[in-house]
Amino acid sequence: PPRIFSGIQPSGGMTLGNYLGALKRFAEKQNEGIETIYCVVDMHAITVWQDPDKLRNQTREIAAAFLASGIDPARSILFNQSQVSAHAELGWIFNCVARIGWMYRMTQFKDKAGKHAENSSLGLLAYPSLMAADILAYRATHVPVGEDQKQHLELTRDIAAKFNHDYGVNFFPITEPLIEGAATRVMSLRDGTKKMSKSDPSDQSRINLTDDADSIAAKIRKAKTDPEPLPDTLDGLKDRPEARNLVNIYAALSGQSAEAVITEYAGAQFGSFKPKLAELAVATLSPITTEMNRLMADPAEIDRILGRGAAQADAIARPILDQVKDIVGMIRSR
Ligand code: TYM
Repeated sequence: PPRIFSGIQPSGGMTLGNYLGALKRFAEKQNEGIETIYCVVDMHAITVWQDPDKLRNQTREIAAAFLASGIDPARSILFNQSQVSAHAELGWIFNCVARIGWMYRMTQFKDKAGKHAENSSLGLLAYPSLMAADILAYRATHVPVGEDQKQHLELTRDIAAKFNHDYGVNFFPITEPLIEGAATRVMSLRDGTKKMSKSDPSDQSRINLTDDADSIAAKIRKAKTDPEPLPDTLDGLKDRPEARNLVNIYAALSGQSAEAVITEYAGAQFGSFKPKLAELAVATLSPITTEMNRLMADPAEIDRILGRGAAQADAIARPILDQVKDIVGMIRSR
């Protein structure tokens, strides 16, 4: 049977990109009745230095965002990574399976390390190996993510295949990425060729899940566009990255295809399209923001939910890790 795993880093606030590319779809998978395991990856976050109090707070905030967007701890497992030591243990074994050259090729590493790769943490380089361990500690079969994680998931498949090959077993599944829907790559509101990101210096470039209705509306009103009205076919969006981005956001928020949105708004000016988009964004996000704020008022309750989720996750991962240790030749007392 399929088993879904995915994770989000608590390295800053959540954006509309995280919501449409990941969170919204996580809840859909849960509601389809598939086994779903979701993780706030605090160990990944510290590959770049994090202030400890902020890390705690952001971990709870991401957990609150999961809950507020429909993740139900009775139907999904929700926990923070560092509470389940199988991730770190399997991550080490994968560090010995994966090759250094594979890691240097990762575009996210190149982006984050910049010109000073030698000064970045060793963890930042090994990051995808831990990510493979997150997924494979549960022998998960499907991983819903945004487009930007595709390369990491290809590496996960390579690590699973090399482990199976090196040890002559057929133990780890070759995981399928699920990169679906109209908003697999939500772009910056200031530059349609750049990804919407929590680390962009301009707050105008993104919608945060914590933004209030007025700032969401203002950011959409000021979003960069071209002077042409919306075209009447998807093809007409080809060389118009900003226009395409707004149409995709509208489609994902309303649960329609981009084609359907284009059909509805063919020939419309941005002056009339943007207010509709803002209305839709506020209507979708404000209940989530309100619920996140309510949950954040009781951090102890969030910690209890994460603790219970961690115990459930551990119960699945521990026996898998035990089998891995047997395969590798590590003695364990029974
Ligand atoms: P992270 O924390 O950067 O992002 C979380 C999820 O949000 C998606 N996303 C986007 N989708 C569409 N448009 C955007 N602009 C956008 N920005 C972010 C990401 O693709 C991701 O799905 N390495 C992962 C975290 C991770 C993980 C895992 C994911 C660790 N272990 C195991 C899956 C399975 C990351 O940094 O995501």
